[in-house]
Amino acid sequence: MILIVGATGVLGRALGKRLLEHGEQVRAMTRNPENATELKTMGAEIVSGDLCDPASLRRACAGVEKVVASAHSIFGRGSEASKYVDGQGHKDLIDAAKEAGIRHFVYVSMEGVAVNPTPFAHFKQEVEQYLQASGLNFTILRPTAFMETHAHTMIGQPILETGKVTLFGQGNSPRNFVAVDDVVAYALLALNGGTANGQTIEIGGPENWTNMAVAALYEKLAGRKAKVSHMPRGILRVMSALLRPFHPGLSQVMQFSLWADTTDQTFDPSETLKEFPMKLTRLEDWVRGQTTG
Ligand SMILES: NC(=O)c1ccc[n+]([C@@H]2O[C@H](COP(=O)([O-])OP(=O)(O)OC[C@H]3O[C@@H](n4cnc5c(N)ncnc54)[C@H](OP(=O)(O)O)[C@@H]3O)[C@@H](O)[C@H]2O)c1
Repeated sequence: MILIVGATGVLGRALGKRLLEHGEQVRAMTRNPENATELKTMGAEIVSGDLCDPASLRRACAGVEKVVASAHSIFGRGSEASKYVDGQGHKDLIDAAKEAGIRHFVYVSMEGVAVNPTPFAHFKQEVEQYLQASGLNFTILRPTAFMETHAHTMIGQPILETGKVTLFGQGNSPRNFVAVDDVVAYALLALNGGTANGQTIEIGGPENWTNMAVAALYEKLAGRKAKVSHMPRGILRVMSALLRPFHPGLSQVMQFSLWADTTDQTFDPSETLKEFPMKLTRLEDWVRGQTTG
């Protein structure tokens, strides 16, 4: 039995479906079981749990062999703030997994975790270290930005649906996108243990892009010009500072966006591919799939 924490998320849901298709037993944890009906229909066991509730984590881990931690709360505030969910909640999950005697723990971190200045990245780095020191068999996955979320939902979909989009900042900074299916493939590899045991795997797509280039790609494939506006960097900086006491989640998203717009995040997958060969999805091919149905 494999427990997925964050099973209703973009990555967790895709992984859950793939595991079920492969005939694996899946336990899907969510705060809202009604969000997991698709996985339930496919045969997953749905368990109600919250990373802020250690007792629920012990219940979720009981009797499972492997755990995939694929939840986050970057936007969270109050009792669901990032420091509780992305920080302490994940340490509690590792403790619960250890207590349950699981065989392998896969933690989904993110690329750039050591250089990204947000509290979110800091918590993820702390959790990586906590897992490494836990004595559990583990694999840490560090993907770049998901195509589904950061290329499509944030840039492409608004262009396709409304003909316009607002980018955070200038949109000229190099960055990398990875297809969720490719992250799923690495998660499956991690769950198989083997050479992935004890490894931190950096995962990214085969090319680097900028947000402006992604907007242009959607324009080309959709066959029409879009109105591209920009939220100025100064606004991101001021909003991040003003929001910090009231909404730490939105504040750190602004901080993240500003950092991303001013930092070269070029990623080269060749080192990972040497050790873990994989056919990576090209963004243009993936986007074409979205625009042609
Ligand atoms: N999105 C990206 O571009 C990207 C890039 C690199 C790394 N990552 C990492 O990849 C992982 C998956 O990201 P995603 O984009 O697939 O996530 P997502 O779609 O935003 O979904 C977030 C998930 O977190 C769960 N969650 C939130 N708060 C929770 C809590 N208090 N207790 C239990 N579960 C909670 C939600 O479950 P319920 O609401 O159902 O409870 C949901 O399943 C995360 O670790 C993320 O940091 C993402």
